[in-house]
Amino acid sequence: MNDGVPRAAVFGWPVEHSRSPLVHGYWLKELGITGQYERYALPPEEVEDLPEILRRRGFVGGNVTIPHKEAAFRLSDEADPVAVRLGAANTLWFESGRLIAANTDGFGFLSNLDARARGWDRNRGGALVLGAGGAARAIVLALCDRGFDPVLIANRTAERAEALVSQFGAACRAVPLQGADNAVADVGLIVNTTSGGMNGNDDPPLSLDRAVEDAVVTDIVYTPLRTGLLRRAEARGLRTVDGLGMLLHQAVPGFEKWFGGHPSVTEALRAAVIDDLEASRCS
Ligand code: ATR
Repeated sequence: MNDGVPRAAVFGWPVEHSRSPLVHGYWLKELGITGQYERYALPPEEVEDLPEILRRRGFVGGNVTIPHKEAAFRLSDEADPVAVRLGAANTLWFESGRLIAANTDGFGFLSNLDARARGWDRNRGGALVLGAGGAARAIVLALCDRGFDPVLIANRTAERAEALVSQFGAACRAVPLQGADNAVADVGLIVNTTSGGMNGNDDPPLSLDRAVEDAVVTDIVYTPLRTGLLRRAEARGLRTVDGLGMLLHQAVPGFEKWFGGHPSVTEALRAAVIDDLEASRCS
């Protein structure tokens, strides 16, 4: 099984939709590195075996996606401070035989905005986050760490927003979903982390009427790339950033750990992933 070629994989359930093999395969080729990156469908009832699977099958590490991010953290021998605070990990690798976990979702989120909306964090004032699930947790923490204050969280289930506030503290505030339209006036960044808008489902019913003119609007959904929220923001002349870059940037630290080299998030990579998304939409 181990022929000296570093092998990594994305572990999830389901995992067929994951674009991570495309992204890492692209970088391996571009950088001329010999390595493999696979999909590994891991049913929830087998997740406890993850460290054993990695070791036995000779993986140098991997990505972990839904629904295994909490288990990946729990099963690791050591975790980076962000993964510890989130209680969830998306990237695993071995160091001296120990399984190390990191969470790079927040890094991917911030890096995407840094790359595509220069100066987006200049004021570090208010941000409004729609949703309070796993993705929202990583984003809220990243925004707090970047110095945003307040980080307003609006979620269908108010208790989940309040749980985030009690965990991440002073800068965070829960706002009722009905109050989000007003909160828009107080923030320079609006983030959708809910699955509303995905695959043409209902767009989050947030009004952008009160948005300030230099507000940036971003959505973590990237199927479709231009979600209803982003289209409405564009129509109002607001700056928008789609969610594809978060996927691409969160992949960088894992690649560096497993394969070495420093991959870049380029327009050509974006185009390759967009082509693949469009091909699967048409098939
Ligand atoms: P993830 O880990 O991808 O963030 P999740 O934990 O299932 O996934 O969270 C999904 C988020 O989308 C939640 O904030 C969820 O709201 P609830 O906490 O009330 O469930 C939100 N969400 C999903 N479908 C929604 C819908 N139709 N309307 C409003 N919010 C929705």
